Amino acid sequence: CGIIGRVGDGNALEPLLTGLENLEYRGYDSAGVAVQNGSGIDVQKRSGKVEELKDSIGEPLHGEVGIGHTRWSTHGPPTDANAHPHTDESEDVAVVHNGIIENYAELRERLAATGYEFTSDTDTEVIPHLVQYHLDAGCDSETAFRRAIDELEGSYAVTAMVSGEHVLYAARQGSPLVVGMEDGEYFLASDVPAFLEYTDSVVYLEDGDVVVVDEDGVEFTDLEGNPITRPSETVEWDPEQAGKGEYDHFMLKEINEQPTSLAQAIEGRVDSTTERIALSDFEPGTFENVDSVQFVACGTSYHAALYGSLTLNQAGVQSTALLANEYSVSAPPIDDDTLVIAVTQSGETADTLNALRRADAEGARTLTVTNVVGSTAAREADDTLFIRAGPEIGVAATKTFSSQAVMLALLGQRIAGDLRNGPPADLESLLPALESMPTDIDALLDESDAETIAERYRDSQSYFFIGRGLGFPVALEGALKFKEITYEHAEGFASGELKHGPLALVTPETPVFAIFTGQEDEKTLKNAEEAQTRGAPVIAVCPDGHPAVETADEHLAIPDTDPELAGLLANVQLQLVSYYAADLLGRPIDKPRNLAKSVTVE
Ligand code: G6P
Repeated sequence: CGIIGRVGDGNALEPLLTGLENLEYRGYDSAGVAVQNGSGIDVQKRSGKVEELKDSIGEPLHGEVGIGHTRWSTHGPPTDANAHPHTDESEDVAVVHNGIIENYAELRERLAATGYEFTSDTDTEVIPHLVQYHLDAGCDSETAFRRAIDELEGSYAVTAMVSGEHVLYAARQGSPLVVGMEDGEYFLASDVPAFLEYTDSVVYLEDGDVVVVDEDGVEFTDLEGNPITRPSETVEWDPEQAGKGEYDHFMLKEINEQPTSLAQAIEGRVDSTTERIALSDFEPGTFENVDSVQFVACGTSYHAALYGSLTLNQAGVQSTALLANEYSVSAPPIDDDTLVIAVTQSGETADTLNALRRADAEGARTLTVTNVVGSTAAREADDTLFIRAGPEIGVAATKTFSSQAVMLALLGQRIAGDLRNGPPADLESLLPALESMPTDIDALLDESDAETIAERYRDSQSYFFIGRGLGFPVALEGALKFKEITYEHAEGFASGELKHGPLALVTPETPVFAIFTGQEDEKTLKNAEEAQTRGAPVIAVCPDGHPAVETADEHLAIPDTDPELAGLLANVQLQLVSYYAADLLGRPIDKPRNLAKSVTVE
């Protein structure tokens, strides 16, 4: 997840380790470095923190050229063997990589068949073997690197070195890579903060770029080796700011990352051409004996769980979502055919782990849906499904909620399909809608009026969020996000419940955000109007042309999509409203008072 490389005079170890520390904010579970020691390549890598890596390097490594990496597990658990850098058997070639090599299985099979031995579960390991393969075929190092890169499909930022050379080779396709330059010292990194202490002069690489870096400078080329020019820039950020890129807060960065994180979540798991949910994470028929599903989760993950449970119910499977901290006193009966699904971004929430353990002890089958490979919940459950959202730094969960909800919708369809022994009926509209979700969110982010709405209602007394069906968990999540980061009072309700009590609170000082998902919208509209009649301004979150746009006071537009996904688009608008409202109030958005990202106590 984080890359650093360095060429220059003096020992590379110090800038490499500093680089890794600077990359820690991105989240990781293993770290490693490799340096050219004059007679070969020395590699030190392990699961755990950079601090532990430092402590484990007994005899200091020495070499002027080196690479380092912090890994966030995607293929394979966070073990020492899976940590980067990866090498070929003879440690002639060392490589660090971010991204996903989609054709790694096929490359691995081919290389293994010709005698190359693999020692990790990662997709990355095919790269050093491929480079070695081309070296063995007689290519010089640069050609071998280019040929290897040419064979990769997927996304990558790669930095490599070959034993005995004072050179780094790097390539970018779909994953960021930046060059830093300072008087005879050169850096490669996945982002600027890695080397900001050493230089502020940078060149951002573009997709398709290949660079060769030695002590005399940097050669920029395309994949075929034709020279190209890339402008050099001076960055003016402080290191903390640099981690956030162009954004003022991690939360806003993570909201804006949703098109990418969702694309990553569904990649290879959905295929609209065959109308199949691949979800090859599970063997065919895995869920055919499940007779009921219980979700357990806390906080935002509970809202995703509720979303998942409703999609299952709507697909005809008996299911319920429970707060993990209530589970020990309120769990419904369990038998061998009960599937208990723990939904937890971190995989470490104590309440959720306790519920998972209780379900296991009672004989249920267990499954964890999480963002963190190797987390406790992932290790303890019978099965896991990773949401691949990438590290989330802001305490308020944003991109992980949308990825959880989408993965649970997929999982729900898959469970329903296994039970019926055939695909569920409504995939025809859902699958293309899923595939266009990243583009839909991009469009929504470009045109959102959330900032204006936040400004217009900044002096309100209380903020209400209402929704029906799949809009209900989104109303709860909208309110939770709002109170977490603004410290203002906010509540989410099922639309139909407004008239059973909360309407007593409604005044012109209580804006009502009404979420329309295409499920009985006319009833939700009526409920919103009941609040409006009592003076509350109504903000309709719905597509252009929806009947609610006519009657509401304000409109936050979402692209037209399948009803199963509309609530998730509405949720992105609500994330933005909370963000801008908190920003206007000057709140510490990424670290709200009294809250922690991962709560490991009951
Ligand atoms: C904490 C966080 C919430 C999060 C909840 C569950 O309370 O502040 O944002 O939703 O834990 O976390 P999990 O890692 O289990 O999803």
